[in-house]
Amino acid sequence: MMNEFEEFLQRQCRLLKHSEVSEAMEYSLMGKGKRLRPQLLFAVMEGYGLVAKDGFMAAGALEMMHTYSLIHDDLPAMDNDDYRRGRKTCHKQFNEATAILAGDGLLTQAFALAAESSADPMKALKIVKELASAGGAEGMILGQIKDLEAENSAAVTLEQLKEVHLYKTGCLFTAPLVMGAILAGQDAAISQWRRIGALMGLAFQIQDDILDVTKSSKELGKSASDLDNKKSTYVTILGLGQAQDAMTEVYRQTRDAIRQMDMNTQQLIAILDAMEFRQY
Ligand code: IPE
Ligand code: IPE
Ligand code: MG
Ligand code: MG
Ligand code: MG
Repeated sequence: MMNEFEEFLQRQCRLLKHSEVSEAMEYSLMGKGKRLRPQLLFAVMEGYGLVAKDGFMAAGALEMMHTYSLIHDDLPAMDNDDYRRGRKTCHKQFNEATAILAGDGLLTQAFALAAESSADPMKALKIVKELASAGGAEGMILGQIKDLEAENSAAVTLEQLKEVHLYKTGCLFTAPLVMGAILAGQDAAISQWRRIGALMGLAFQIQDDILDVTKSSKELGKSASDLDNKKSTYVTILGLGQAQDAMTEVYRQTRDAIRQMDMNTQQLIAILDAMEFRQY
């Protein structure tokens, strides 16, 4: 099924009028991403008895939004990184202007897909709104500016850092869970999914901070640059051991919260297990 989703993404790229920017969009989108956000959406849908294929548009929208966030995150003005998804970053492979526009292109195209995410116009509208709030200036973008503001600062507290992580990463983990509930007509469960997404995103980002200092760029398929960028991370604030304990504890809380959902949670738990023990 994930192969079919890859083909779907590939087709979406080929539908674009060919240009330097469409090439750069395809280059970044079709790199070796883990596709976690789409997988989460499919797991919630299937847990509620829907078929994953009916979520391809919403999942494509999420993966485009996420990929745009990575292209811009890697730019010299932000984390200034040279490698991503096992190859050169977009601005290194093309150039900065093209990478900025490729990010803009993916962000915009994400909404075109979201608009077609359901045959039910009310559901599609809710998905568009969720994509906007998760990715926007009260979501991922807010986290990214807070992340940059926390660079070079020894005074950042754990509470502040947690907030950075909840916004920059948590929002794009919450969105697929909420979208799955929307597609399944389970709006009453949305607030529970928001709590789960926040926990999952926090666990995932603590782990990303840990991997950044424990794995090589080659193993990660992306530059490990938190030290060079003087980032505030769970590792710089707590040290490696306590950061690992914090991560394990938040994964445990996430698992507990998922198990309380009124659905078949097997697939979601399996994804969480794979996530917790990932090496990149
Ligand atoms: C990277 O996300 C950005 C973070 C939120 C840490 P992923 O680790 O999901 O990146 P891909 O999609 O697999 O490349
Ligand atoms: C960025 O966090 C999360 C995004 C919103 C892109 P990082 O800057 O730690 O992500 P990586 O390590 O570059 O993937
Ligand atoms: Mg960053
Ligand atoms: Mg980065
Ligand atoms: Mg990182």
